[in-house]
Amino acid sequence: MPTKRTSIHGEWSSRLAFILAATGSAVGLGNIWRFPYIAGENGGGAFVLIYLVCVAVIGVPIMMTEIMLGRRGRRSPINTMLTLAGEEGRSPRWHYVGWAGVVAGFLILSFYSVIGGWTLAYIFRVGAGVFTGATAEGVTSVFDRFVSDPEGLLAWHTVFLTMTMIITARGVRSGLERAVRYLMPALFVLLVIMVGYAMNTAGFGQAFEFLFKPDLGKLKPQGVLAAMGQAFFSLSLGMGAIMVYGSYLQRHASIARTTITIAAADTGVAILAGLAIFPLVFASGLEPEAGSSLIFKTLPLAFGHMPGGRLFGTLFFVLLAFAAWTSAISVIEPMVAWLVENRGHSRVYAAVASGLGAWALGIGTVLSFNLWEDRTLLGQTFFGLLDYLTANILLPLGGLAVAVFGGWMLSRVASRDELGLQGRAYGTWRVLVRYVAPVLVVVVFLDSIGVLDTLLSWVGLPSL
Ligand code: PHE
Repeated sequence: MPTKRTSIHGEWSSRLAFILAATGSAVGLGNIWRFPYIAGENGGGAFVLIYLVCVAVIGVPIMMTEIMLGRRGRRSPINTMLTLAGEEGRSPRWHYVGWAGVVAGFLILSFYSVIGGWTLAYIFRVGAGVFTGATAEGVTSVFDRFVSDPEGLLAWHTVFLTMTMIITARGVRSGLERAVRYLMPALFVLLVIMVGYAMNTAGFGQAFEFLFKPDLGKLKPQGVLAAMGQAFFSLSLGMGAIMVYGSYLQRHASIARTTITIAAADTGVAILAGLAIFPLVFASGLEPEAGSSLIFKTLPLAFGHMPGGRLFGTLFFVLLAFAAWTSAISVIEPMVAWLVENRGHSRVYAAVASGLGAWALGIGTVLSFNLWEDRTLLGQTFFGLLDYLTANILLPLGGLAVAVFGGWMLSRVASRDELGLQGRAYGTWRVLVRYVAPVLVVVVFLDSIGVLDTLLSWVGLPSL
């Protein structure tokens, strides 16, 4: 029996509006900034393959489950979990999954906003023609100088987060739908143009091989974990962002079709970004392992040399900043929705309060690139730790909990009804979410800490 619940925060105007908003959440810095650099650090091909497998067999079923739970609960993830657990006679402790998501979102926003600030700064650098005719050394030194100034980074971080708070305060609907409807396709077109440009550089063949020729022997357990983490991060899964958007979805929209559309768009953008960036890396002798600076070196180099590059480049960074905003607002939406529901705050207050917290924590990330560059813990800077902890640990754990709850705790009647699936389609979802996704997440975790090999050798099997 469908529930009659409605969300106090409003509803999307149509299924398309939800697709646009969820795609806006999924497509962001994760696809264009993070995917290429993590792929580069982990050797390319094999990483990309594992990432694609994770999107298909872990990401898609978990995204369906998050949307399903959100729409059934119709409240912030914390309250949705509480409501549904109550209805199904499960422990109210399940609502801690919602809390874990809020914490993860808060941590993510703190560094996401700093990188979002970089894209804003680059709009003006590219626009001013700083990179016209630049060399690889030139773009590198511009970047190094840029990040060595904590005050500059802090200022851009502040601008990015202020914009995020303003959009969030105005509510999920106003403006967002329209912005995503036109700007996302525009970003897509620009990326295709960039790939076209990259195809004519000397590095294209090498880049293609780097991205699509998997050498599984080269992939370390940490690389597999990174690929899974990237799938979660890029699809906005495991922390309630998609769940809270699902809570604003109309009752009759098909969750399965919607999910496939979003996942396909998200993955398409990531692959295009890889195809646009790696040819430039190889053609200009930059390092694929350059890390978080990768696109801020390669893209300006391309814009500095392609015809109309200044205009294109400016537009590109503008659109990237928009994509980042539409993701950032989804990162704090679970927190904002909870503050409104439980504390009776206005959206404005809720947005500002959560934004300020993330702003303060973001200072740690700002300093990771200059004053605290050499302060490391477990071989990582402050930023590196946050990025690793959220993408590789918190999001997969959150996703695991969502899968277990949706697959095992929720009754068959409830999930079948909410998903609107029957027969083989429903059966496939159920197998994926009950067995495949949780087992894979656990196996990848065990593998990454070296426990899997020990377990396998105990039972007399060869290691993976
Ligand atoms: N998916 C977003 C991106 O790729 C980031 C994000 C992560 C958004 C987690 C929401 C939740 O940029």
